[in-house]
Amino acid sequence: MHRVAIIGCGRMGQQYAEAYTTFPDTEVVAIAEHNPERREAVGRRFGVKALYPDAPSLLNDIVPDIAAIITPSRFYKDAVIACAETGVKGISCDKPIAAVLSDADEMVEICASRGIVFAGGNLQRAMNELQEAARMLRAGEFGQIVGAAIHQWGNGEISGGGCQHVSALRLLTGAEVEAVVAWATPKELLDSGNDDGLRVNGRFRLTSGVECSVFSEPNPYQGADVWTADSLVRWNWGPPELYRGFEDDGTRKRLHHEYAPYDWNQFGYLTGSIRSFIAAIETGSELAVSGHDLRQALEVAIAARESARLGAVPIKLPLKDRSLSLYPRAYRWSGGDAEGLVQPISEALGGPRL
Ligand SMILES: NC(=O)c1ccc[n+]([C@@H]2O[C@H](COP(=O)([O-])OP(=O)(O)OC[C@H]3O[C@@H](n4cnc5c(N)ncnc54)[C@H](O)[C@@H]3O)[C@@H](O)[C@H]2O)c1
Repeated sequence: MHRVAIIGCGRMGQQYAEAYTTFPDTEVVAIAEHNPERREAVGRRFGVKALYPDAPSLLNDIVPDIAAIITPSRFYKDAVIACAETGVKGISCDKPIAAVLSDADEMVEICASRGIVFAGGNLQRAMNELQEAARMLRAGEFGQIVGAAIHQWGNGEISGGGCQHVSALRLLTGAEVEAVVAWATPKELLDSGNDDGLRVNGRFRLTSGVECSVFSEPNPYQGADVWTADSLVRWNWGPPELYRGFEDDGTRKRLHHEYAPYDWNQFGYLTGSIRSFIAAIETGSELAVSGHDLRQALEVAIAARESARLGAVPIKLPLKDRSLSLYPRAYRWSGGDAEGLVQPISEALGGPRL
């Protein structure tokens, strides 16, 4: 039985708490939640008596096996470091991991240096079907990858939502982004330090030599396409569509592939994320989504903003200047309470989402 602490139990944290209380091999033993009424409500909802206002006071009393940190992003770094220094075996946070690149580095490095499994939370990259499609691609079932594209990158938030696209692309291609060139609108946002409303088009060069076109405009697709000479894997914000060969009229032929079923699919890709996290703690197996993945996504977003800001200048990764930053939209950075989107107590108690 893995003893779990939930740190930050708002809208997203409650989804983690639901999953961790459902799995047979995990038990939520403590919750750190800043808002006193919500703390009380989630304690009642999940049957947890050890309730604290923040991570330091929780860690003072309890060292859990797993810390699932889902505060607003501005608090991730301090909480990750506090958990790592106390001896927690597995730590997860969510997206975006940080605003300043060196903060993301610090989080990844402290966990790596102490042998702590550092997982990346609720990303589509962890979706079982996406993982399966990536395994098929990597096993060469479709032939050699020759091209890739990202559609509606981040939907107006390249660091917040954009990490979904970058981490899925890296998974499907099995490659890192090594160079970026980008154009962005509106221009005034480029110096704002914030990604809120920034729409970025560009091109990523991958370490495999493949070029990935990056589109921001609304179009029928909203994920990533990866193709070979005769096949296409299309992640369109759900289980990937697979195509191999062509019909007589030249259109692509859809494969009717049955993805493997999995338990606890009511939690969607959070299931894949948490189950791979637990397996990684138990056996050292690969994470479906790691803190490193979140860091890479932030780095690509910052590189693209820099490229566009400097006038479509090609930028190589890894970035030398680790003090560069990109802040997500205010809700992600500071949370619903700070931004006037307070979650009603009835919802925190498990009632319908208002
Ligand atoms: N992966 C996804 O699909 C996804 C979706 C939504 C949100 N998120 C991310 O999850 C995070 C939280 O988002 P949310 O929608 O749950 O926000 P939220 O505002 O509903 O919840 C955040 C909770 O953290 C608590 N909190 C704030 N500071 C704290 C601290 N220092 N210690 C303990 N608790 C603290 C708040 O009181 C609040 O209850 C953000 O980083 C957001 O970007 C990810």
